[in-house]
Amino acid sequence: MGFSYKMRLILVCLGIFVMAWVGFLFKSLLLPDSFGLYGHFRADAITEAVEVPVRHGTNSSCFKCHPFEAKIHKAGLHSTISCEFCHGPYADHVAVDKKTGTLPVKTGKQITTLCLRCHNTQIMARSEEVIKTVAMPDHLRNQQVKLTHDCNQCHHVHAPLKYINRAKQITGLMEKG
Ligand code: HEC
Ligand code: HEC
Ligand code: HEC
Ligand code: HEC
Repeated sequence: MGFSYKMRLILVCLGIFVMAWVGFLFKSLLLPDSFGLYGHFRADAITEAVEVPVRHGTNSSCFKCHPFEAKIHKAGLHSTISCEFCHGPYADHVAVDKKTGTLPVKTGKQITTLCLRCHNTQIMARSEEVIKTVAMPDHLRNQQVKLTHDCNQCHHVHAPLKYINRAKQITGLMEKG
């Protein structure tokens, strides 16, 4: 009945040894092969990340095939906005310098939704110094138009103040420039 003091000590040591051994076995079974090669992470992750195909271009990657849109876009207040934000990724459209697919071109209400993703006053996190916002439908009421108007009926999507500045010039409300 009961183990002697020595026996208990031996059993505890044995227990610790077995647990350490099982732990070691499971660790080597569960760890990915390349873990620890360079540091405390999976070395293969680096190669995998490098091999992910590039999906996006820059605005200049669009410019060479779309000189018409490029000229307008560069001259307007949207010059810093990414073409791909509004049209989708380069890789869906071009491969090896050839058009391979069609990019979505939004129309009507879809355009209004797109514009309001950036310009809605309700997005409180945006300060007016960074980006001008409008409250709808007040913005349309102020212009005294029907509330069914979409943004692109007054704003050029690629240079939003293009027509408005032109109209102001014609009516003499704005100096040239
Ligand atoms: C703020 C969003 C936005 C940005 C940024 C933008 N576009 Fe657009 N683009 C649109 C919308 C919306 C239309 C369709 C409606 C229109 O033309 O009024 C359009 C139309 C076009 C069309 C004509 C498509 C057709 O078949 O009628 C081309 C080509 C185009 N954009 C290319 C570009 C390029 C290139 C850039 C970057 C230099 C760019 N866009 C930047 C929103 C944008
Ligand atoms: C290798 C040339 C090439 C490049 C680069 C290119 N496009 Fe195009 N794109 C075309 C051609 C060709 C058409 C069809 C004719 C047209 O509308 O001018 C087209 C059409 C479009 C259209 C109308 C819808 C469609 O797919 O037919 C949009 C929008 C557009 N391009 C946006 C872009 C954007 C944004 C970029 C950059 C991310 C880009 N393009 C880069 C050649 C190109
Ligand atoms: C990705 C975010 C984004 C989208 C989408 C976007 N804009 Fe803009 N817009 C900007 C930024 C940034 C500026 C430059 C900062 C500014 O002046 O507000 C700007 C400028 C403007 C201005 C000039 C404001 C001023 O300074 O007087 C107008 C008007 C405008 N955008 C209308 C539109 C319309 C209409 C659409 C939809 C076709 C649209 N924007 C889509 C980000 C965006
Ligand atoms: C009926 C024409 C019309 C429509 C439709 C319209 N706008 Fe405007 N917007 C204007 C005019 C005109 C101005 C310039 C007002 C000024 O200079 O006092 C303006 C100014 C702006 C500004 C700059 C505001 C500022 O504080 O300086 C933004 C941003 C804007 N519009 C976004 C939009 C968006 C987004 C839509 C669609 C939801 C839209 N607009 C629809 C006519 C319109």
